[in-house]
Amino acid sequence: MLKNKNILVGISGSVAAYKTIDLIRRLIDEGASVSVIMTDAARKFITPLTYQAISNNKVYTDLYSEPMSHILLPANADLFVIAPATANIIGKFASGIADDLLTTCFIASTCKKIIAPAMNWRMYENPVVQSNLKSLLSKGIIQIGPEKGSLACGEEGSGRMSEAVDIFEAVKSALTEKDLQNEKIIVTAGPTREYIDPIRFISNRSSGKMGYALAKVALRRGAEVTLISGYSKLPPPRGAVFISVESAEEMNNAVKSEIASSSVLIMAAAVSDFKPSDFSFEKIDKHQLDSLKIIKTVDIISEARKNNPEVFIIGFSAETGFKPERALKKMNEKNMDMIVFNDVTEAGAGFDKDTNKVILIDRNSQIELPLMDKESVANEILNRMKKIKA
Ligand SMILES: Cc1cc2nc3c(=O)[nH]c(=O)nc-3n(C[C@H](O)[C@H](O)[C@H](O)COP(=O)(O)O)c2cc1C
Repeated sequence: MLKNKNILVGISGSVAAYKTIDLIRRLIDEGASVSVIMTDAARKFITPLTYQAISNNKVYTDLYSEPMSHILLPANADLFVIAPATANIIGKFASGIADDLLTTCFIASTCKKIIAPAMNWRMYENPVVQSNLKSLLSKGIIQIGPEKGSLACGEEGSGRMSEAVDIFEAVKSALTEKDLQNEKIIVTAGPTREYIDPIRFISNRSSGKMGYALAKVALRRGAEVTLISGYSKLPPPRGAVFISVESAEEMNNAVKSEIASSSVLIMAAAVSDFKPSDFSFEKIDKHQLDSLKIIKTVDIISEARKNNPEVFIIGFSAETGFKPERALKKMNEKNMDMIVFNDVTEAGAGFDKDTNKVILIDRNSQIELPLMDKESVANEILNRMKKIKA
């Protein structure tokens, strides 16, 4: 999504400058063109050569070596990220000082700007730094972090620069139109676990990737998002209300408590269809178990539809083989507004993959999409939802 985007990256004098190498690599991998500006202090930490190699572009350090760089660099930028942002550079930005290339470019830029502060916790808590940050926020500058954790000085506290992956997401969010600002979306994700005894459970191969991609993309587009997730290794997207559950029953209760205030429910979770009829509080001796009685779990979508006719409900139908008619039947039976069919046996589609190949089915159409990454699939699902709702 960053193809043809010019991103200006400003680096000031902090140990956290090493994390910006990873950020630039991510931006380049996503198709952006990156120009780096370093302060004199930043060059004491990392050499320009490193950023030049990683960005495949010239690194700018001097206000006077190319007379118009302070105007041309910001004029061509779609976004300006300053990471790390020192207490010093934040102070200069807030007071309009322009005494080197980075600060002069900052004043000369009209694009969106993101700052990622990095400093010792005492510096961060200093009222002057706090009031400078407030002043920048009031002018529309986006702040990401800092995080709590161990600092370069060996102390613990709030001052760690956000991780590259989070700044990268902030960049994508800043460049995304907020067209879902009026939506409150529940996304369910991951597998459920139906316990047999305290050690064993019935589950499935879902990784949560599709649901987490939906939550992330909806947040980026300005929606309020509640992510209700079964077990997943993925980190919850920043900005989502996150509810962790295990069983179908728990997921159903969480959906019930959230749905009245929501406009959309996207059931991307792979809810187990069966659960053991009884739960044993003690580990079952394998010699005493020769069969397992299973019963159906609660039907979360039908339950959700009962008292919420206004909510736009999107289901998923994972099948082995090309069976979109099964998805259509499921959509009609449960009175959903839309269903996403995917054949998990197709190459590149289904469980734990980063890509998916789906058919978007609603009451009037079936749209077959090509194989694409799960974030793109998520965008297509949300586009379709927006169109049907309009
Ligand atoms: C080892 C070392 C680490 C530093 N780390 C930080 C830091 O993380 N954040 C910060 O605000 N200043 C830090 N400083 C101080 C800045 O480098 C100093 O204030 C400098 O003037 C910043 O210049 P600049 O904002 O133009 O890059 C550090 C200094 C040293 C010597």
